[in-house]
Parts: sequence; C-alpha cells; structure tokens
Amino acid sequence: MLKGKHIVLGISGGIAAYKAAYLLRLLVKKGAEVQVVITPNGKEFITPATLAALSGKPVVSEFFAANTGEWHSHVDLGLWADLMIVAPATASTIGKMANGIADNMLITTYLSAKEQVMVAPAMDLDMWAHPSTQRNVATLRKDGVIIVEPASGELASGLTGKGRMEEPEGIVKAAEDYFRRRETLRGKRVMVTAGPTYENIDPVRFIGNYSSGKMGFAIAAEAAARGADVTLVAGPVGLPTPDGVKERVDVTSAVEMYNAVTQRYADADIVVLAAAVADYAPATISDTKIKREGASTMELQLVRNPDIAATLGESKQGQTLVGFALETDHELSNAMHKLEKKNLDWIVLNSLRDPEAGFMKDTNKVTIVSRKGETHSFPAKTKREVAADIIDTITGNKDENGKT
Ligand code: CTP
Repeated sequence: MLKGKHIVLGISGGIAAYKAAYLLRLLVKKGAEVQVVITPNGKEFITPATLAALSGKPVVSEFFAANTGEWHSHVDLGLWADLMIVAPATASTIGKMANGIADNMLITTYLSAKEQVMVAPAMDLDMWAHPSTQRNVATLRKDGVIIVEPASGELASGLTGKGRMEEPEGIVKAAEDYFRRRETLRGKRVMVTAGPTYENIDPVRFIGNYSSGKMGFAIAAEAAARGADVTLVAGPVGLPTPDGVKERVDVTSAVEMYNAVTQRYADADIVVLAAAVADYAPATISDTKIKREGASTMELQLVRNPDIAATLGESKQGQTLVGFALETDHELSNAMHKLEKKNLDWIVLNSLRDPEAGFMKDTNKVTIVSRKGETHSFPAKTKREVAADIIDTITGNKDENGKT
C-alpha cells in the first residue's frame, strides 16, 4: 500500500518526536519515500541528522538555507506529497494549522498540500481536553484532515490520560487504510443528487425547502476521493464543485433533476439520492409576477412531481441505489417503507429529532439500513465523515466506527 508513495512527515516540538524516528523507519521499510519537515521546536527534541539518515533526504526546516540563501519551496513539497502526516502534532501546531498561521515550513507545506493530510496529536491531557484544542481539531476534521486520535496512557508530564500520540504502528496502519480506502471506488461511476429543488410560481417566487446540499456534496467529494467517476446533479445551491468531481449538472426544478438523472442512469454503478426533491410543483407558472390585488387568500394548484428514486428503482439494471429519508417520527419503519416502495438497496435515515442532524447543519447523525433490514447506526459526525461511513457501508468496507 505504501510502496512508492510520497509522504511528507511533519514533526513538531513535543516529547513524542522521538517516536517519529521509528515512524519514519517503518514508512521507509514499507517502501514509501519520505521527506521530513520539522518545526524549529521539533529540532529541540530530535536531531535533523537522525531524520536525514533514516529518510535518506536532507530535512527541511527553514524557509531559506542558512549558508546558500536557497529558498525551500513548500509549494513543491505540498504538490509532491501523496500524503502528509504530522506526527507528533502539538497543540500549537494544530492551532496554527486550523487557523492558517504560516510561520514555519511545516504549516506552509500543510497549506500547500494538495492531497490528504493526517495528524497524530500528542500533548498533555488537559491541553488535549481544552476547548481551544478541541475546537481546532474539529476545524481540521471539517477541513478534511484525518485525525489519528491520541491514546490514553502515561504522559510525559507524569499524569495519566488521553493525549499520548498513537504508536507508530497505528499511524502506519491509518496511512495504509487511507490509501486502501482511496481505491474503493476506482473504476466505478457514481451519480449523486444534492440540494433542494425550486418549483417556480412566477418569475420571482418559488416553492423550495431548506436543503443546503452539503450532505450530497460531501458524498460526491468522498466518492471522487476514492477514485470514482462522479456526476453531481445539484439543485440550486451556492456550493463549489468538490475536487475530482468529473461532471456537475446544475438544475433548478424536480423535472430538470429527473431529466438529468434518468439520462445518465444507464451508465451509473451507484446512485446516491441525497437531494430534497419537492414532491409537488405549481400546475402553471405565471409568466408575469402575480399581483396581490386585495385578495386575502390565494389558491395555488399543485401537481405531483416525478419521483426520481422510484423511477430508478423500477428500471434498475444492477445499479446500487441509495436513498435518504429525513423523518420526524416512526423513523425506522418509515425509512424501511420508503426503501421497499422505491426499490432501493440502502436508505440513509436521519431524524429531525436529532439536534445534530438535518438541513443546513455541518454535522449529521445517520442510521444506514439495508434491504435485508441490517441497521448500522453512527454517532454524530461531520457530513464528510458521514459520507465516508455511507460509502464504507454500501461497499462492504470494514465498519470501524459504527456498530452493526
Ligand atoms: N426522492 C426523489 N424524487 C422525489 C422525491 C424523493 O428522488 N420526487 C428521493 C429523495 O432524494 C430521497 C428519497 O427519495 O432519497 C426519499 O425522499 P422523501 O422526500 O423522504 O420521500 P417521499 O417519497 O417524498 O416521502 P414523504 O412522503 O416523506 O415526503
């Protein structure tokens, strides 16, 4: 898994830096090419000479080489890396990463890194538990950084608790898992619907809903990161196209979404229907702005929109269909009913009763239900992490965080 991979190992100034030498050795033994970037404080804990000998490359630390004045390009390093691992990551380095405080080579390299970044925090238990650290860690997670959780145990301070850097073997495993996961959907064609639909009433008004599109966009991003050919059919949302998404089709109404999806259905291997499609649309769209004209009530006649999920379910030819169900009550039975009615393979259930779930939030809490009725429940996570759980579950990858 690691053979030939370019890994930037970022080392910041904590006692656990001594373990970075072992981590480096393990990575090199697995065939990775490793470039060490160390912070000025890191050098107080482990010498560049040791790291240069183990990696077979000069260690990068300063923006300029002291003797020649040569500029070290963090941009080149960021582009070179297939993975950047920051281990140990101190509270200070995590804070700088989360806030873009680019005052050393490690942070500038982080900001230039195009591929995945992984962080193995190491600090005292109180520093780890501090709201500031937790806030910064949450920001990194949201930015897509993989956090290799610190373990509980004896700390350099003599105290015992959570904050001890994960052992080098555990960090190597996390790196291998990452590269393995990146290949899960290689060669697969994945179509995702996302966002709301707007059903026009007249030139200035529409019927819509509060869907932000974030969940569907996170699924598209995760599928692309795992090597899939992704088509994202998006309702009206202001979100940027995630990296690696091959095709984005912007639509407004349910009918437009239906057309875009059905046209591309035959080519898809997996379809995830995360859009909140309006069930009804005005029977007629007025060409001109409807005037109030003194009336105290107004009637709007609505007609049923096509059910995209059900249409795909009826004409399934080997595709895996994944729907969503946002429910307020009788969640599981309603979701199961939808799954059967629409001939889906999986349904992702979120309950509006969960404060961490629902529209416009950055987090979601889901239960994924299979056709056979197996349920996988997950704790509240960022939408990107939920996307990873959904893909792991539907592709049969190991379910590490949820319970089955
Ligand atoms: N869906 C769809 N086309 C529609 C309506 C829904 O593709 N016209 C999809 C959604 O993207 C979602 C699933 O069907 O994956 C369930 O959506 P939901 O709105 O909960 O289903 P409905 O059948 O409309 O049920 P309800 O009566 O609860 O609104």
